[in-house]
Amino acid sequence: QKPLKVAVLGCGSVGSQVVRLLTEQAGDLAARVGTRVELAGVAVRRIDAPREVDVPEGLLTTDAAGLVSRDDVDLVIEVIGGIEPARSLILSALEHGASVVTANKALLAEDGPTLFEAAEKAGRDLYYEAAVAGAIPILRPLRESLAGDKVTRVLGIVNGTTNFILDKMDSSGAGFAEALEEAQELGYAEADPTADVEGFDAAAKAAILASLAFHSRVTAADVHREGISEVTAADVQSAREMNSVVKLLAIAELRPGPDGDAVSVRVHPAMIPRSHPLASVREAYNAVFVESEAAGQLMFYGPGAGGAPTASAVLGDLVTVARNHLAGTRGPGESAYADRAVLPMGET
Ligand code: HSE
Repeated sequence: QKPLKVAVLGCGSVGSQVVRLLTEQAGDLAARVGTRVELAGVAVRRIDAPREVDVPEGLLTTDAAGLVSRDDVDLVIEVIGGIEPARSLILSALEHGASVVTANKALLAEDGPTLFEAAEKAGRDLYYEAAVAGAIPILRPLRESLAGDKVTRVLGIVNGTTNFILDKMDSSGAGFAEALEEAQELGYAEADPTADVEGFDAAAKAAILASLAFHSRVTAADVHREGISEVTAADVQSAREMNSVVKLLAIAELRPGPDGDAVSVRVHPAMIPRSHPLASVREAYNAVFVESEAAGQLMFYGPGAGGAPTASAVLGDLVTVARNHLAGTRGPGESAYADRAVLPMGET
């Protein structure tokens, strides 16, 4: 059996862990896939930048476009993030016959349908478990395990940075600015924390969760978004007095309407009783609470970010996509979606 060749786009905190796992676990991966999975190249912005992993000599390139269009590349892992050049590179990889694994939540939330249609047209896979809640397996359960059930509501703590800040405010009485500073010192929050604290990151993940939970097309523009920068120590204290905690929740619900069910998606700080399982999600952990007609209530919990946890989800997808590639088949894709209304900006 010929080895499968993998191109990795990006070698930051996730990409370097993907390269490490691909190298260190090559034997186990070969056994699980049915053939060796070999690194074809790693596309980076600068060859001489410091990185967390030693990439085998000769595999680093700054020519990402050239790498994804190579005939011998079977699988492409995109961990650059952002809209461009990620979108063009994914589309080019699919056009050139490669299957793609991506962790790119912003791109999927903004322009997922373009990517899904390109994968469909190419007859290739596009998997993205790592795009929401890092290591937590949540997308495949929504797309596949629960596909025979009717999911009615998804409540997610899908941003670790804001959960860390709110947890700190709850446990120490700190104000928002002080808790943010601590999150920055510990490396949870970025120097520019806007995407996390204003809810943009959670809104992108909410759109992806809602699309899969309700087999619909939801984009970030459909999501009502409010961040946590206005949450005060007094708000958190009032919640405490009511035996509740403040959490930044991504809420996706099915609302019955005159023309059938519609989807409502919003992200905002919410007070939840301490007795609710989501209240026990501390520090920078993530959790997704799913309510469905037959299964009832389910909770998925774990590390939602970080190089190695996110790489775990990427590698899981890689094994699936590699098996499909070898078998000449593809996964369920996103083509079978319901033509369901999405309520403007999370209206309920
Ligand atoms: N900034 C994100 C978070 C990283 O805090 O959860 C994972 O997407």
